[in-house]
Amino acid sequence: MEGCDWPASTKRLRFGVWREGDVSLAISIWGDPEVTELTGGPFTMEAVAQRLAMEIENCRRYRFQYWPVFQLDGGALVGCCGLRPRDVKARIAELGFQLCRRAWGQGFATEAANGVIEWARERGFAALIAGHHPENLASRRALLRLGFSYTHHELYAPTSQLEPCYLLRIDGSDV
Ligand SMILES: CC(C)(COP(=O)(O)OP(=O)(O)OC[C@H]1O[C@@H](n2cnc3c(N)ncnc32)[C@H](O)[C@@H]1OP(=O)(O)O)[C@@H](O)C(=O)NCCC(=O)NCCS
Repeated sequence: MEGCDWPASTKRLRFGVWREGDVSLAISIWGDPEVTELTGGPFTMEAVAQRLAMEIENCRRYRFQYWPVFQLDGGALVGCCGLRPRDVKARIAELGFQLCRRAWGQGFATEAANGVIEWARERGFAALIAGHHPENLASRRALLRLGFSYTHHELYAPTSQLEPCYLLRIDGSDV
């Protein structure tokens, strides 16, 4: 896809790029009420289609998205992991991951996020931010394991929750 770019494969995973025809793949992530329980779901099929369109648009405008992630062994969809814009001028993006239910608890979020962090570092990003629902302990553990540090709480509109936010500097500075 023109303008798009994606992280290199990791030990067990490869990244793809969302395309308009990927509706059924999108439904298996954002259409699953269990997967979206702590991120504002359940979502209607219309909302899933809008989310897919937004990811495609983000890739066109910013060269990144929440890329779809597949297992290298067998090719099954694992979920999505990637970036959305946060402060383009300051070279800061927001990192996130959402895995299909069958892929939880195998370290895939951490592995995919490390691939995304490497992609961002190579492209000169200054820092990444991330947040999670206060009850999402798996997400918290993954972010801490990736080296993120807690900074503050912030209102997350889709869940109307005050969520803990984290920062990871990737440009070598400690500011
Ligand atoms: C949250 C999510 C991304 C975690 O991905 P994952 O690949 O299952 O996580 P991992 O297997 O890498 O586990 C990460 C850590 O959380 C721990 N963990 C996993 N499930 C847990 C649970 N239910 N409660 C507490 N800790 C848990 C793991 O032991 C691991 O800890 P460690 O680093 O000390 O070993 C995944 O469960 C998911 O996609 N959930 C639905 C969507 C979502 O909530 N996305 C995040 C939005 S912020």
